[in-house]
Amino acid sequence: MPAPPTVLQLCPFSAYLESGLNSRFSVVRWFEMAPPAQTAWLAGHAGEVRGVATGGHVGCSNELMRALPELALIAINGVGVDKVDLQLARQRNVRVSTTPGVLTEDVADLAVGLVIGLLRGLAQADAFVRAGSWAGGERPLGRKVSGRRFGILGLGQIGRAIAARLSAFGPVAYSGPARKTVPYTYFADAASLAAASDVLVIACPANASTYHLVNAEVLAGLGPDGYLVNVARGAIVDEVALLAALARGELAGAALDVFANEPHVPEALRSSERVLLTPHVASATVESRTAMADMVLGNLATLLAPG
Ligand code: 8YV
Repeated sequence: MPAPPTVLQLCPFSAYLESGLNSRFSVVRWFEMAPPAQTAWLAGHAGEVRGVATGGHVGCSNELMRALPELALIAINGVGVDKVDLQLARQRNVRVSTTPGVLTEDVADLAVGLVIGLLRGLAQADAFVRAGSWAGGERPLGRKVSGRRFGILGLGQIGRAIAARLSAFGPVAYSGPARKTVPYTYFADAASLAAASDVLVIACPANASTYHLVNAEVLAGLGPDGYLVNVARGAIVDEVALLAALARGELAGAALDVFANEPHVPEALRSSERVLLTPHVASATVESRTAMADMVLGNLATLLAPG
C-alpha cells in the first residue's frame, strides 16, 4: 500500500476534522512547531508535502507555498481566500479549495444575533443578572430592532442570506461592485449606503478593493445613532477610525466577530461599553463545521489520491 500523502495542518481544527485528516493522511501539526523546527523539518521533508489544510483566517503564506515544491492543494476550512495569494498559487500550479454554501446560514444567523444582541444590550443584560444586580434596579433601555434600516455591504451568498433574514425586521439596502436583481435598494458606494442605513452589516470578501472600505467617512455616514456589524473580515474596517468614532460617541455601537489582528483585540475595543465582541465564531456550529470538514477531507482526498 502506498504511504498516505503528507498534509501540513496550519491551525487547530475540530476533533472531527482532525481525526478525519489523521486517518487518511500523514499529518504534520505545523502550527505547533516553533520556526526553527519548521525550518529543520522543511530541509528534510519539503518535497513530501502534497497538501495544506488551513482556516480561512489563517491561509498559507507565500514563503511556505514557495518552500513546498510538490504542493498540489491548499484546502481551506472556510470560504475566505484573503490569506492566500491566488496568483502565486496559480503560477505554482497549486489548487485552492474552500467550503462554500455550507456555512452561509450560520453566518447569516449570527449576523442577526449580533444585531439584536447589540441593540438590545444582551451581553450586558446577562452580566447584570449574573452579578446579582437586578434587585438593585433596572438596566438602561435598549434600542428597537424592528423598523431599522439595514444596509448590507456585499450581497454575495452570505449577504443575501442576511438580507432575507433582516427584511423581516425592516427595509434592506445593499452595496457592492454590481447591482443585482433583488428586491433591495442598491447604493453604488459604501458611504451612500451607510448614510441611508441605521445598521450597516459587512458581508463582503476582504481584498484590495475592500481594504478599509469602512473608513471614517462611512462611519460618519452611519452617525451617532448608527450601528456597525462585521461578520466578514477585520481588514474591511479601519479599526483606528472605528475606535475613534466609538470613543467620541459618533457611532452608537459595533458588533464584531472579526478583527484586524486576530486573535488580538485592541484594549480600547475590549473595554468599550458600546461593543459586542465574539471570537470569529460565525461558522462555528457542530452542523456547519462537520459539513465543512467533510468538504475539506473530500477536496484533499480527490486531489491527493495516489496514482
Ligand atoms: C472560519 C472563515 O472561522 O469561512 C471563513 O472564511 O473565516 C470561517 O468560517 C475559519 O475558516 C475556520 O477554520
